Amino acid sequence: MCGISGIVDSEPIGTRLFTSIRNLEYRGYDSCGIATLHEGQINARKNTGGVDEVNSTEQLDQLPGTIGIAHTRWATHGGVTQENAHPHLSMRNEFAIAHNGIIANYQRLREQLIQQGFEFRSLTDSEVISNLLENAFYEEQDLEQALQSTLKKLEGTFGLVMISLHDPERIYAAKQESPLMVGLGEGTNYVGSDINAFLEHTRRAWVLEDGEYAVLDRERVIIRKFPSGKMVQKQVLQIEWDLETTKKGGYSHYMIKEIFDEPQTIRQVLKVPDEQIQKLAETLTGATQTYLIGVGTTFYVAQLGQYFFSILASRFFPVVSSDEFRAVGQVQPGNTVLAVSQSGETYDTKHALAMAKERGAQTAGIVNVMGSTIARMVDQVIMQGSGPEICVVSTKAALAQALILLRMALLAGGKNIPEKRRNALNQSLLDFPDLIQQVLNEKSGFVRNLANATSHVDHWLYLGCGAYYPVAMESALKMKEVTYCHAEGMPAGFLKHGTLSMVEPRVHSLLFVPPPEDAVLHGRTMVAMEEIRTRGGTVMGFYFEGDEVARPLLNHSVKLPPTDPVLAPVLQMIVAQLFAYYVALDLNRNIDKPRNLAKSVTVG
Ligand code: F6R
Repeated sequence: MCGISGIVDSEPIGTRLFTSIRNLEYRGYDSCGIATLHEGQINARKNTGGVDEVNSTEQLDQLPGTIGIAHTRWATHGGVTQENAHPHLSMRNEFAIAHNGIIANYQRLREQLIQQGFEFRSLTDSEVISNLLENAFYEEQDLEQALQSTLKKLEGTFGLVMISLHDPERIYAAKQESPLMVGLGEGTNYVGSDINAFLEHTRRAWVLEDGEYAVLDRERVIIRKFPSGKMVQKQVLQIEWDLETTKKGGYSHYMIKEIFDEPQTIRQVLKVPDEQIQKLAETLTGATQTYLIGVGTTFYVAQLGQYFFSILASRFFPVVSSDEFRAVGQVQPGNTVLAVSQSGETYDTKHALAMAKERGAQTAGIVNVMGSTIARMVDQVIMQGSGPEICVVSTKAALAQALILLRMALLAGGKNIPEKRRNALNQSLLDFPDLIQQVLNEKSGFVRNLANATSHVDHWLYLGCGAYYPVAMESALKMKEVTYCHAEGMPAGFLKHGTLSMVEPRVHSLLFVPPPEDAVLHGRTMVAMEEIRTRGGTVMGFYFEGDEVARPLLNHSVKLPPTDPVLAPVLQMIVAQLFAYYVALDLNRNIDKPRNLAKSVTVG
């Protein structure tokens, strides 16, 4: 959460700094600001609102100077106000900092500084950092020493960038648990929370580890450890992401653009070598106990993986939400924990993995973002290769993760799956990109009409059986995130155990109907449908061609072309993404940046 960046150059950097936080805006968007050094003073402009909105009043991109830092905020400590927006200047305006993370001991530090005569302008935890730096500089008369002694005092998490009048040619940056990367340019250098801060300018990066700080000038970057000050040599991370995928490319929102990227996303998944997936499959099946973890969408993706492993490999792997893993995960040596994470920076997932490591378990990840903490901390990683996902809600990345888990389960099942069955599923996987393209082309107009017809509905029940259950859960989450409507997902068979009392004509239910050949699941879904219909509930359904049982019972429906029964729930997940998007569009929601949310949740 929160995006930070910094640029040092010999040319003016106002526009580039502004663009960098615009590109990081999915990390937080309640307020933002920029500080640059120019003609012996720090100029800072900041305000509440999204990046473009703030720029229209504050002209952030017009700030003069060839060195500066920037921040886009997702508030934790202190409300959304101009004073609480970053960057924060020190009391004498000699230092400016932008911070991502939480300073746990900020209250004590703040009181100490106040006793020493410092005054504060904001209610944030972050402002102590600028004043600590100023205070330390007056004691030590050396900027790097002042940074080191400040870092020593901080408890908690930080990705931090700083500029100072006392060293007008350099940016200082430090990392403890919150992500930070240096972008290596020619006669210019960059720092940012993630690759998107500088992808337009350089594809060469150094990833900072916890306990490291960087000093950047135009020509070089030096990385040291704190507190020892020992210099660190880094391997260059070559970024392969396609810049075009970070652009909206004519679509009105990233969400719909990223949904339409999905055929290509699947092709990328199919390029991940079998050997890599097989190796991880062996780790999972060879462990004395395997847990799958994720949180939010990735929790539901992991649940979908659980069904794939059960169906295709006859293996049961418990799935635990990363944030609860500490409470219930009884991890031991010999166990494996596989984490699913788009950003590779999610606090809860990182900490669950850290616990697993501490207790001697093997760790693994399916991760999208290159160089991210989770990608680097696990023993085995599969990079899903979905490219940048800019919309705050996950669509294409979740799809890729689901399909990697499917491929893994298929390889884990191996020869125990009859050859004919294996070949058929493999062929359907190969055909899947084209099938999805066809569904997107042919059904999106129809789904849009359906969304327009139902966008007044405030309460939804999303129901599915078997692998359609996690799809129902994930689809309900998508609906809530982008439309702000209430959507409750549950197993279809669960409905009669309580929630059925809610059913009435105004409450709509969306049923994820399996193809009729999946007879048991289809039958159970029909039972739930009847339970709702007989109580006057309105029923919408996603069903497959040839299903003459479901079709006449549905008030609204989307008919889908046939695919393999194992892929059928995945296809419906995509249609539910489209549906959520079009409802949100009709309701005029802030689709790419829904209220109160941020991508990459790096706080606990
Ligand atoms: C929902 C969504 C979130 C993330 C969750 C985990 O659309 O995107 O629920 O899935 O915050 O994030 P990652 O995958 O980055 O670990």
